[in-house]
Amino acid sequence: MRQSLFLLFLGCSLILRAQKFEGLALTPPMGWNSWNTFQTNISEKMVMETADAMVSSGMKDAGYTYLVLDDGWMAKERDSLGNLVPDPQKFPHGIKPVADYVHSKGLKFGLYNCAGTKTCAGYPGTRGYEYQDARNYAAWEVDYLKFDWCSSEGLNAREAYTTMSKALRKAGRPIIFSLCEWGNNKPWEWAQPLGQLWRTTGDIFGCFDCEKRNGGWSAWGIMRIADKQAGLARYAGAGHWNDPDMLEVGKGMTQGEDRAHFSIWCMLAAPLIAGNDIRKMSVQTDAILTHKEVVAVDQDPMGVEGFKYSVKDSLETWARPLEGGNWAICFLNRSASPRNLSFDWKKEAIIDSVTDTPLDAGSSSYILYDLWQRSAAGKTSTPFKAVVAPHDVIMLKLSKGDL
Ligand code: GLA
Repeated sequence: MRQSLFLLFLGCSLILRAQKFEGLALTPPMGWNSWNTFQTNISEKMVMETADAMVSSGMKDAGYTYLVLDDGWMAKERDSLGNLVPDPQKFPHGIKPVADYVHSKGLKFGLYNCAGTKTCAGYPGTRGYEYQDARNYAAWEVDYLKFDWCSSEGLNAREAYTTMSKALRKAGRPIIFSLCEWGNNKPWEWAQPLGQLWRTTGDIFGCFDCEKRNGGWSAWGIMRIADKQAGLARYAGAGHWNDPDMLEVGKGMTQGEDRAHFSIWCMLAAPLIAGNDIRKMSVQTDAILTHKEVVAVDQDPMGVEGFKYSVKDSLETWARPLEGGNWAICFLNRSASPRNLSFDWKKEAIIDSVTDTPLDAGSSSYILYDLWQRSAAGKTSTPFKAVVAPHDVIMLKLSKGDL
């Protein structure tokens, strides 16, 4: 009797522990990460100011919840017991008070480490310390872990990420696990049970369409990253997302390019992790990042990733099915000159192959709404005609019904 009660108790606690990790990212995670602007030049003061700015700028209200510290938060060595040590100059009071401050603003807090022996910037990696590090993150009340892939020679990616995923679960605190393995080992094929998002490519770079060579590796412009998402839509869904890397919005591209970048990330159901200095962002940048209706496309509860439907003369048409039989359509002009668009809905055959859903403008009528302009844009019974500005988008929401 006593033994069966014990087994029942054990079973229930295992189920409860597993349940805590379900539903952590039913829509793509949203937040801010320090890397794209600050690299390793981070500090307690900067984090606190950023947390304040996330609230005052309206980002928190728009859904940006996670404030994530990337590489560079640690001292160069572990302590004598093998624990990670926060850099005493950058974080004189440690990590816990920083996490507490972020939590006091109604936000969540994230950290970075690496599956290998060292992080990409040369700080202590987690290899061999998975359970110990996970316990420390839980004790500091961390909510999100980005886990990178530098100095990983000899490791099997699937095994290494499985170990860390298990360690986080064992530590007992629900922590979003962001796999950052750059898509080298096709994580979309195996990472769904391990974490909530996985990087699909190498690092992003803040240019519209370039390759930035860095010795042995390249970082990629926005369009290059978008191209690399082809064929991955079927791996994404509620709780597990393809991650085409963090946002470069507000970091030097034109407003049209920022709008195009943000729109395509929303079409892709990408995690929206801002990477600009939000303490001093322009009104225009803020307006892009917090555009409610465009963010709503990213966060659509059906959680089906969009896809590139067609390309004609550098003008791309992207499509994404949304909840309630609605659609998002994004016309993207990749060229440096304006493009005339004439899109006859009745002559096109847009089908989402993941859900097998057609956009049926023949037998149904959809109302068009221009999301960036926030204005009505006709209906699908007549062709949609517009000029798409260079390196810019027109993004429509199609809702079923008559005008
Ligand atoms: C890798 C990752 C980046 C960033 C840096 C930090 O390059 O892909 O996103 O985390 O490491 O060193």
